[in-house]
Amino acid sequence: MSTMTINGQAKPLPDDADALLVDVIRDQLALTGTKLVCGSGVCGACTVLLDGAPVASCLLPARAAAGKALTTVEGIGGTDLHPIQKGFMAHDALQCGFCTPGFIVEAAAFHDRWRAANGTAMPSREAIAATLSGHLCRCGAYENIFRAVAEACSGRFDSDNVTAPRMEARDKVTGAARFTVDIRHDGQLEGVILRSPAAHARITRLDLAPARAVPGVAAAISLLADDNMVRYVGAPIAAVAAKDRRTALAAIAAIRFSSETRPAAIGLDAARRADATVVFEKGKRKYAGNVSEGGSSPAPWKGNVRGPSAAFSQKGKRAKAWLAEAHEKRDPLLVEETFRVATQSHACFEPHAAVARFDGDRLTVHVSTQAVHDTMEKLCKRYKLGHDKVRVIADHVGGGFGSKGSLGIETIAAIELARAAMAPVRIAFDREEELSVTGYRPGAEIKVGLLPSAQGGLKALSLTAYADTGAAINSTIAALARLIYPAEAKELVDFDVISNLPPGAPFRGPGGPPMAFALEQAVDEAALRLKVDPIALRKRWDPDPNRRRLYDWAEGLDVWRNRKLDTAQSGRYRRGIGVAAGYWFYFWQPGSSIELAIKGGHIVASTGVQDIGTGTRSVIAGTVAKMFGLDPQDVEVRIGDSSLPEGPGSGGSRVTASIVPSTLSAIAKLKAAIEKSAARPPLAGSNAPWRDLIAASPDLVVSAERPKDSRPGLGISSPLKQAGLMGMILSWMLRTFNNIMVGAGVPSTVQVMEVEVDTWLGHVRVLNAYTGLTIGKLAAPVLARSQAAGSVIQGIGYALYEARETDPSTGHVLSGSMEDYRIPGIADMPRCEVHFDEAGFEHVPGGSVGIGEVATIPTSAAIANAVCNAIGVRLTEIPIRPDRIVAALKGRAAA
Ligand code: FES
Ligand code: FES
Repeated sequence: MSTMTINGQAKPLPDDADALLVDVIRDQLALTGTKLVCGSGVCGACTVLLDGAPVASCLLPARAAAGKALTTVEGIGGTDLHPIQKGFMAHDALQCGFCTPGFIVEAAAFHDRWRAANGTAMPSREAIAATLSGHLCRCGAYENIFRAVAEACSGRFDSDNVTAPRMEARDKVTGAARFTVDIRHDGQLEGVILRSPAAHARITRLDLAPARAVPGVAAAISLLADDNMVRYVGAPIAAVAAKDRRTALAAIAAIRFSSETRPAAIGLDAARRADATVVFEKGKRKYAGNVSEGGSSPAPWKGNVRGPSAAFSQKGKRAKAWLAEAHEKRDPLLVEETFRVATQSHACFEPHAAVARFDGDRLTVHVSTQAVHDTMEKLCKRYKLGHDKVRVIADHVGGGFGSKGSLGIETIAAIELARAAMAPVRIAFDREEELSVTGYRPGAEIKVGLLPSAQGGLKALSLTAYADTGAAINSTIAALARLIYPAEAKELVDFDVISNLPPGAPFRGPGGPPMAFALEQAVDEAALRLKVDPIALRKRWDPDPNRRRLYDWAEGLDVWRNRKLDTAQSGRYRRGIGVAAGYWFYFWQPGSSIELAIKGGHIVASTGVQDIGTGTRSVIAGTVAKMFGLDPQDVEVRIGDSSLPEGPGSGGSRVTASIVPSTLSAIAKLKAAIEKSAARPPLAGSNAPWRDLIAASPDLVVSAERPKDSRPGLGISSPLKQAGLMGMILSWMLRTFNNIMVGAGVPSTVQVMEVEVDTWLGHVRVLNAYTGLTIGKLAAPVLARSQAAGSVIQGIGYALYEARETDPSTGHVLSGSMEDYRIPGIADMPRCEVHFDEAGFEHVPGGSVGIGEVATIPTSAAIANAVCNAIGVRLTEIPIRPDRIVAALKGRAAA
């Protein structure tokens, strides 16, 4: 038997020639700091040092480490932290933290090499990007990674102890943070799902006996719905649990099933044909998924097309007539265009995963979820169990972006296998599953008609959107144009086009980015025709007080004031500046509660919320600390557990707006309780009265629910109230069926992008991104800045690179690996300036609302407007691929 040395300790290597190094590190040695994401050498999450050199452990057979010294993230820095780890903590160079160990290992090796060769000289941005180009971060923490690495190399963190703005930063930079995929119980089995190879079929026979006969298999179950239909490639059919993944895969291969294959309608165009096979017959529509945050409102179905949903139109017929008349008369001010957006995958780095365990009749499930409390409620309902019998835990969640908000098949299968096998079961999707069947932002075709009035106002606006939702419904793209740029008349029509593709899911500001891509380019085009500055036109047409302040800010930027106004640039490289605006809703969740306790002389805050990388712990700790004159680190925060008081789901940017107000209410109660129980008042002249009182306090517990808002200021009202009767109805539906309140005021953003276009090769580079945001008071400023920059880089991916591709004849997802689904890397990160305007939400207790959705909404439009400014041609389809740029410059369509 051969051995290796890992983090200074000799360990035997398995004899298995096929064993991968990453699996030995994670599963056999339980060093779960090393993460598995792509499994194909693309993302760098599994990076370890082999004899001091960074290697991707997902590509190496374990035996390659024989006789060598291996260092994982747990071995970086030894008992002290490495300067790179301190730099990541100090600069908050992480969000969900799932990619962080890989970055830390690679950057630590770079730091040590750099210091040996260059002393404390600071490396350039380009040198850092080149070194870390083999690492990806889906949360987009790149801007702070640059800072962390540069300053660590300069010696800034050689001796300092650092204070991290993120509470759990230390656990994430050392590999100690435990995600769902890292959970391992004694006797735990591995579950795998058998998925449909056909896009549309009825399963007529399913024989699980051959799977159960495979040695090492403990359970096999059917996952078919009661109509036995599969409606997309990858639809779940059955699942097995076995002693290890390899055995489970062998058992999956042994399952026998027969099916009647049906014709399939795949994608937007095929599913809209009159003769297309119908995916959901009447009576089967309950099986359709949901691509939006809220419940679905009724709409007619015709074949695979659900719609029109046009309730948010305003004098829709009039808008249509005016636009038709302008078209007839060839009105030069009329903007008419059809825009197309590609399908965007969430590509969370931690895959969808669940680990289920029964202890008698009690069920504990670790789930990578955006909603521990809601998941618990759904499980109680589904399995008819009391609240005291189900506990859902998510200590750390490696990204979600909307795709982990509902009860997923990984959780259901893990529970049912655990019950059948009478043993704990883990199911963690592989990368192909993650990129194929866990949802996506639907692609769409959006027709826009925009007619300015003769006086330069906005007369008529029409958006008609067809969304490629797969086996799901409830897209809302056009309707979102109701709440920006009031017009004399608006016709806003949405259609879902249902097809035999995996269902889409909510994705960061559902419907917002495609709406903005179309509308903001149309507004830009109108500005060109009216010969008006694009920001000045937006100020003319947009009365929202939050955005108006942001327009003023954007107008004052040097990059805007100095931009070239004519588009007749020449030469290979051309620069352009573009602007776009966007908004999202201020949501909050009624019933969100928090418990504050004094235990042993310090404060413990507990709520059943989860942190998907947004920094929830830090928001709570910061709020408590500020009100008591403490350091955030003095506050212990317990979250990620449904047994704690009900917390909000992490969807729709509602966490901060839900937990800060309840925390403030609880603080007031706790202060009163402390004062009441104090044996004596604080010492006269004490500059830390609360610190002293807390230290001397007996144990106390208080709790508080999210209070209502106060009356908003002049000009600020609920956006859905502005949308008339349908808005009021939708508001009621969200409250009743989704437990979401729509508050007054609109979180907004205005973004200015500077791009460089290589007109020979068609490559677009975003050089500088300026993001203005109104999201109220910043509950955690450093983390908010990181969120904003991360949202922008995700928007850059949407604009320039990301496209989920499917085979139009078979329905197979062709971009099921990270080699084929391109997300932005560190070298794609522009310099990113974030401006916060903290006014506008004084009616919210604490004054803070969420940031997660709004900052990504107009990015693709601002980039497209900048490209148009650079080359004088408008790109109407994203991603803006090189071939599309080259074709546009040559005046023909790209392939
Ligand atoms: S998991 Fe190894 S490089 Fe991505
Ligand atoms: S922090 Fe990098 S993937 Fe989340």
